[in-house]
Amino acid sequence: EWQLAGLWVLAYLTGSISSAVIVCRIMRLPDPREFGSHNPGATNVLRLGGKKAAAFTLVGDMLKAIIPILIGYALELHTRNLGWVGFMAFIGHLYPIYFRFRGGKGMATYFGALVALSPLLLAYCVITWLVTAFFTRYASLASILSSFAVAAFGFYLDHRYFFPLFAMFLFITVRHHRNIRNLWNGIERKITDKK
Ligand code: G3P
Repeated sequence: EWQLAGLWVLAYLTGSISSAVIVCRIMRLPDPREFGSHNPGATNVLRLGGKKAAAFTLVGDMLKAIIPILIGYALELHTRNLGWVGFMAFIGHLYPIYFRFRGGKGMATYFGALVALSPLLLAYCVITWLVTAFFTRYASLASILSSFAVAAFGFYLDHRYFFPLFAMFLFITVRHHRNIRNLWNGIERKITDKK
């Protein structure tokens, strides 16, 4: 089981790398932690730097979960444990060791975990996200609702990773507390709001 423990640590360390911070630094964009929603994530990079920068951020943050889980498959670890490998990458994104434990909200890393764990749940989650975002224009609401949808009804599609996915839904919701307050007060930023 030392392999699994090692992979958890590795996943946490890769999860701690902030794609948003790196992409913005390389592309000479403003620091996403200082502008817009102050969140180091793809949505905020979209506001600050446009689609290309956002796509790099999204893919980079997804890979943080995908890569450790693929290593887990290669090591032939028990699939049930791989959900927790994704969870550790996700926790790295939320509480990064390199950035004084101040990270993001985890949605892209959560998507990455679904890519590697369950294409069926991924499709279900992405469709829920896109439909919500299309009709409301709120990325935050889309993230909360789609991770809730996976936790609540995903069981019927694929039950293998229920607990780590449920845990991630709880963390996603808590990390969106400011967004939830803004939604309640009608002042939440839309995806396309520039500032
Ligand atoms: O996953 C992040 C998104 O749900 C919210 O991001 O920048 O609008 O707070 P932001």
